[in-house]
Amino acid sequence: MKAYRAAIERTVRPGDVVADLGSGTGVLGMMCARAGAARVFCVERDAHMVDLARKLACANGLGDRVEFLHSRIEDLTAFPAPVDVLVSETMGAAGLDEGIFQLFSRCASLLPRLPRRVPGRLRVWAAPLAFPELVLRWTLGARVEGLDFSTLAAGLGHIPQVLPVTPAMLLAPPRPLFSGEPGVDAAPERLEAVWDPPPSGVVDGVALWFSADLADGITLANGPRDPDTHWNQLVLPVLPGLAPAAAPFVLEVWPRFVAAAPRWKWRLTWGGLCYEGDPATLDAAGSVAELQPSVSSMYRIRVQCGHWIMSFIS
Ligand SMILES: C[S@@+](CC[C@H](N)C(=O)[O-])C[C@H]1O[C@@H](n2cnc3c(N)ncnc32)[C@H](O)[C@@H]1O
Repeated sequence: MKAYRAAIERTVRPGDVVADLGSGTGVLGMMCARAGAARVFCVERDAHMVDLARKLACANGLGDRVEFLHSRIEDLTAFPAPVDVLVSETMGAAGLDEGIFQLFSRCASLLPRLPRRVPGRLRVWAAPLAFPELVLRWTLGARVEGLDFSTLAAGLGHIPQVLPVTPAMLLAPPRPLFSGEPGVDAAPERLEAVWDPPPSGVVDGVALWFSADLADGITLANGPRDPDTHWNQLVLPVLPGLAPAAAPFVLEVWPRFVAAAPRWKWRLTWGGLCYEGDPATLDAAGSVAELQPSVSSMYRIRVQCGHWIMSFIS
């Protein structure tokens, strides 16, 4: 909040028209109004959040300048007035996972000129990990009360999880996976990072996180070495782990959005070994089956059940 407030105070000018994309409580929109914006459009898809946020804006004496548009951003066809600044906190643990690039692009396409933007740039970082607790959970999950659950555990091993990653888990220095400007650049389709020299031990997963340039000199980041935020990091598990090889370690990631929900498909190549993970399938390692639209909701339910079972076991 402090970083956003500082960035908003540096970006918003008196009289500006601002849009807060995915406004939730409207807190960023209210900060913009306090920074001098004449009108703020808070766009939010959740009706209950809109009701609540409207009350909060009134309670703070900002009801006349903060307006609410109850809509999915994808469904907006116009803003009530040309917008000077776009503000949004729609970053998931790995930055791209709440669709910030898609949301900014959609809004930019509705406006006559490119607005100033908070954040102005988003970077995604990656690092290979040793994650003994994840391995332990997975190993324990293969046997439940004397029952063989290894088939389930094998499938769950492919599901990305948001977990706390510490600097001690990193097996190689973080590498940039992506850098782009929301509203200017398209959402990336394929990302790649190479570690040469390769990681120093068995790789149990790869962590992804972001750093966002909110304004000149104001960066918000959720890396393992950054000050704590409410975000943890996205872990793409590699279970069982990949043993060290002399060759470069290559990570490829395809961040996909199916029905506005993130799907992470990834591939690790290390020497002669190749590991492919895709949360859309709970089948055997190596499967990278493409989602069929007709069965995507079924997959989503299976992935969600996987999360519950994993939490229960742990
Ligand atoms: C991480 S929250 C941030 C909320 C706000 N900045 C706050 O601190 O209260 C993201 C919000 O964006 C909304 N949202 C996400 N995708 C959206 C979309 N495509 N259209 C409209 N709202 C969206 C969600 O419902 C959620 O309230």
